[in-house]
Amino acid sequence: MSKINIGGVTEEIITSEEFTLEKAGEVLKNETIAVLGYGVQGQGQALNLKDNGINVIIGQRESEEFYWGNALKDGFVPDKNLFPVEEAAEMGTIILFLLSDAGQKMAWPAVKKHLKEGNALYFSHGFSIVYKDQTGVIPPDHIDVIMVAPKGAGRTVRSNFLAGSGINSSYAIFQDHTGKAEERTLALGIAIGSGYLFPTTFEDEVHSDLTGERGVLMGCLAGIMEAQYYLLRKHNHSPSEAFNETVEELTQSLIGLVGENGMDWMYANCSTTAQRGALDWKNRFRDAVAPVFDELYERVVSGKETQIVLDANSAPDYREKLQKELSDMKNMEMWQAGVAVRSLRPEKREKK
Ligand SMILES: NC(=O)c1ccc[n+]([C@@H]2O[C@H](COP(=O)([O-])OP(=O)(O)OC[C@H]3O[C@@H](n4cnc5c(N)ncnc54)[C@H](OP(=O)(O)O)[C@@H]3O)[C@@H](O)[C@H]2O)c1
Repeated sequence: MSKINIGGVTEEIITSEEFTLEKAGEVLKNETIAVLGYGVQGQGQALNLKDNGINVIIGQRESEEFYWGNALKDGFVPDKNLFPVEEAAEMGTIILFLLSDAGQKMAWPAVKKHLKEGNALYFSHGFSIVYKDQTGVIPPDHIDVIMVAPKGAGRTVRSNFLAGSGINSSYAIFQDHTGKAEERTLALGIAIGSGYLFPTTFEDEVHSDLTGERGVLMGCLAGIMEAQYYLLRKHNHSPSEAFNETVEELTQSLIGLVGENGMDWMYANCSTTAQRGALDWKNRFRDAVAPVFDELYERVVSGKETQIVLDANSAPDYREKLQKELSDMKNMEMWQAGVAVRSLRPEKREKK
């Protein structure tokens, strides 16, 4: 375990130098890891575990050809290491509960009856446990309940692993029945390819995660981009100009600089005209959105956001509905401008 000090706050983190992959393999050598759900997280985590030599089986509804088909394409074999959800839950000693959060609520009664003395139930989100009054997910006392939550999309859990880097993950232990909960958690965190692991609680993870994705990472990001793009269009700027000034410059130039060396460094690499204006306007934007963030956090903690997710994503046609809204977004002039602008990137033009 290493200690890092950030502004006077000391945090403990775990890397694969401290908890090696060999140690993870040793901890997990007699376990059967049942990954329930072959969605984006299930797929990424299962493949990374498998490539790291861990004994993995998949539990996936066969009726849904998409995810089952992905598991087949990835080399999992029915009745060998690919099973219906309940069969896999019965066989696993560590159950990675990676159905969608609404799916976890629906499948819980069926999964719960297969949890045996000494098993571990693993989550990648605090959602089902923290909002137990809404989800009904109340684990029995005779198991460990643990979490490793990658701080990235499932797709990058896999792609970063293949590229030799990783996604940082938080981890938490909700219930330690066996006395082995911590080593099981850390072993899984390392074996799924986490860059480093940092401790959290189920509450803190779900509150920060629901806020982050509704806020800066996705909701706020798309919202402020739309506001600026359509402001420029209202003032008769061309789609190319509005898109380049709102999205393309950010994704192709500036955000990479923030990732490399921080916001101040990105600012320092822009003109002093830009620096002066950005330093003034960041405070205006911060103060304008702060009340919206207050409301968001309150709605997350109170469970209002949870209820919306459970209601919407439990509907039989939830996927079609989400798809329809994503398709409406795709068809907005702004994102169509993005299609055109991306096709003009030099590497795309060379391929034509
Ligand atoms: N996506 C991310 O980037 C990400 C990042 C960090 C943490 N997480 C967490 O990881 C977990 C899995 O998320 P995900 O995004 O991978 O989920 P997802 O892609 O939405 O998961 C879909 C999976 O859930 C199954 N499912 C849904 N409803 C079901 C039901 N009623 N019964 C049985 N199976 C059902 C689907 O199978 P069917 O086709 O049979 O419905 C599929 O296997 C969640 O707790 C999520 O919060 C996700």
